Amino acid sequence: MRVYLDNAATTPLDQEVVTAMTDVLSNYYGNPSAQHAIGRTAKGILEIARRNVAELINAKSSEIFFTSGGTEADNIVIRSAVTDLGVKNIITSPTEHHAVLHTAEEMNEKGMAVLHFVNINEKGEIDLENLEFLASKYPESLISIMHANNEIGTLSNLKTISAIAKKYHCIFHSDTVQTMGHYKIDVEELGIDFLVCSAHKFNGPKGTGFLYIKNIHKLKPMITGGGQEKNLRAGTENLHGIVGLAKALEISNKILDEKRKKIQSLKNLMINLIKEKIPQIGFNGLITENESLYTVLNVSVPPSPIGDMLLFKLDIEGVCASGGSACSSGSNKGSHVLAAIKHPEDRTGLRFSFGKFTTEKDIRFAVDKLQKILSE
Ligand SMILES: Cc1ncc(COP(=O)(O)O)c(C=O)c1O
Repeated sequence: MRVYLDNAATTPLDQEVVTAMTDVLSNYYGNPSAQHAIGRTAKGILEIARRNVAELINAKSSEIFFTSGGTEADNIVIRSAVTDLGVKNIITSPTEHHAVLHTAEEMNEKGMAVLHFVNINEKGEIDLENLEFLASKYPESLISIMHANNEIGTLSNLKTISAIAKKYHCIFHSDTVQTMGHYKIDVEELGIDFLVCSAHKFNGPKGTGFLYIKNIHKLKPMITGGGQEKNLRAGTENLHGIVGLAKALEISNKILDEKRKKIQSLKNLMINLIKEKIPQIGFNGLITENESLYTVLNVSVPPSPIGDMLLFKLDIEGVCASGGSACSSGSNKGSHVLAAIKHPEDRTGLRFSFGKFTTEKDIRFAVDKLQKILSE
């Protein structure tokens, strides 16, 4: 038996998504920029996907820009805020994904903007008073705070942060890669300037995502060439990927409540089984229902001579988990998130992440294997 508990890294494709994508691959090969009928048909499919995605997050079609995923979209926001929108200060948290952190650090290193880190506590929660202090000290900054942390699952209150951003005339970007398709997101209600999406986190295809840009912001081309994506991102569109993304988001939004209920109960089961069977294990980040992403559970294993081997041993036993973000899969060494929440270096952090295909059997199997490995 093999169980897959690494859904925060990526998710299996939904069969309906595969069908929608193969239909495009087989039947609609036109270039959406071509003037003839076959091209116009492809353009029509592209714009329907854009409209559907926009409706699902209460945006306008003109505010949706398809990208290759979350990393590219985060890069565009941070670079463009500095180069096109006159941002001189970036306020972010030390637990952001590297797509945000490394880009902001580059802006700082090149002297293009000054980077300020907001304080966080040991559960990874943003210190909102400190955020307000920074925003008041550096008005008109770019504030970039993720909705849910991909390693420990701690959630941030986007509405509260958005209000702080508005008060001090800051631009607010949120990396919503781990929450899009898992929570209802309404850009109007949030009053947000930018957010990002990656289809492969909610049973859509890899290499496809989008960037929401509030229509008051005009960005210059990030990739130059053709005039695709309203001149922001040149290159012939990945039509089948975009259709797959739109389909995956549509399906996810339809089943949002039941999916959340089911996965949350699996997460609760895992928490309870761990508490009961392996009580020496602790939890990283918040684990309460409304403050924590229901798809992620990060556990803290006490110091052990096999600490470094845990993921490997789980894999041998048939359990796919991870040590943090996908880029550090196979090891928890160097997790900047665990370091930022002061997780003791001699303990091991393991991330189990769930999806709509996860079952109770998977959870029981994984806890049994973890218990077995730790008792050997
Ligand atoms: C929070 C967060 N941001 C950005 C990304 C990058 O997304 P993509 O894989 O689409 O580039 C990820 C993926 O791991 C993520 O978890």
